[in-house]
Amino acid sequence: MKQQAPTTSIPAVTTYQDRHAPIGLFDSGVGGLSVYKHLAQQLPAERYVYYADTLHVPYGNRDSQNIEALTLIAVEWLYQQGCKLIVIACNSASAYALDAARRHYPLLPIVGLVPALKPAVLASKSGHVAVLATKATLNGTLLNQVIADIAAPNHTLVTKYFDPELVPWVEAGMPTTAETAQRLRQQLGQFADDKIDYLVLGCTHYPFFKDFLIHDITAQRLSMHIVDSGYAIAARVQYLLAERDLLAELPCLAPIEQKDVHNSHIVYPLTFYASKYDNRLSCLVHRLLGSQILIKLH
Ligand code: DGL
Repeated sequence: MKQQAPTTSIPAVTTYQDRHAPIGLFDSGVGGLSVYKHLAQQLPAERYVYYADTLHVPYGNRDSQNIEALTLIAVEWLYQQGCKLIVIACNSASAYALDAARRHYPLLPIVGLVPALKPAVLASKSGHVAVLATKATLNGTLLNQVIADIAAPNHTLVTKYFDPELVPWVEAGMPTTAETAQRLRQQLGQFADDKIDYLVLGCTHYPFFKDFLIHDITAQRLSMHIVDSGYAIAARVQYLLAERDLLAELPCLAPIEQKDVHNSHIVYPLTFYASKYDNRLSCLVHRLLGSQILIKLH
């Protein structure tokens, strides 16, 4: 798939005011599919176009300018697909490119992600929570603003945890024998010793190993809860579309006979594009979403 950066700094002023237009999702890799799962559950009538920048994953170790440039390329691509709303389903990309994307497409609703620290702080009994995220997200202003505005006034200590291998581990299909899995288990014990009672999964890749964490938390009898942003993001998308009278009307649970953006005669609920695509990725997407899902892969 060929990608092009937005060629001008002039804001794009057209939007797709069509309730049948798709919702666009973007992530550096497969992580944003954890957000897609919430969207598909809350908004099953919608069609979705997903763009994974697998050529450049992971984003989390990149510098802010690079993340912004790559994100703007992806957002432009989704805009060209005719999306009525775009979700930057990546905390790292949102941290450095959400403002720029909104400036560039002022009429297009763009939803970004920030780790769900606020609900964790408000629910914590121990006054100590942890945010697991990429280096980029942990250093970004979006998260640090929530720490200053919510955690500090509530006297809640926030531990930032970063393991550069977590995103590649998810992209590799999360083999439980990997050293990364072992490190994660040990880290849970450390969190418990530190009296941390809420873990915030601040990267959209991480909800895919939520069951792994819950299994270990239960086995080790730890008193720890896990939160992520997926549900709230889907609710926000629903609100923004309803406000603009852009919610789709017909369920698209099966392929239907009509033209899509590429003039094919079948419309799929989810069309998945990747900047680097191979069989391994196809298997991973099916594994993460379950075999029931109808999906067109490119
Ligand atoms: N899913 C991205 C996020 O939420 C992963 C970042 C990466 O590619 O490192 O931050």
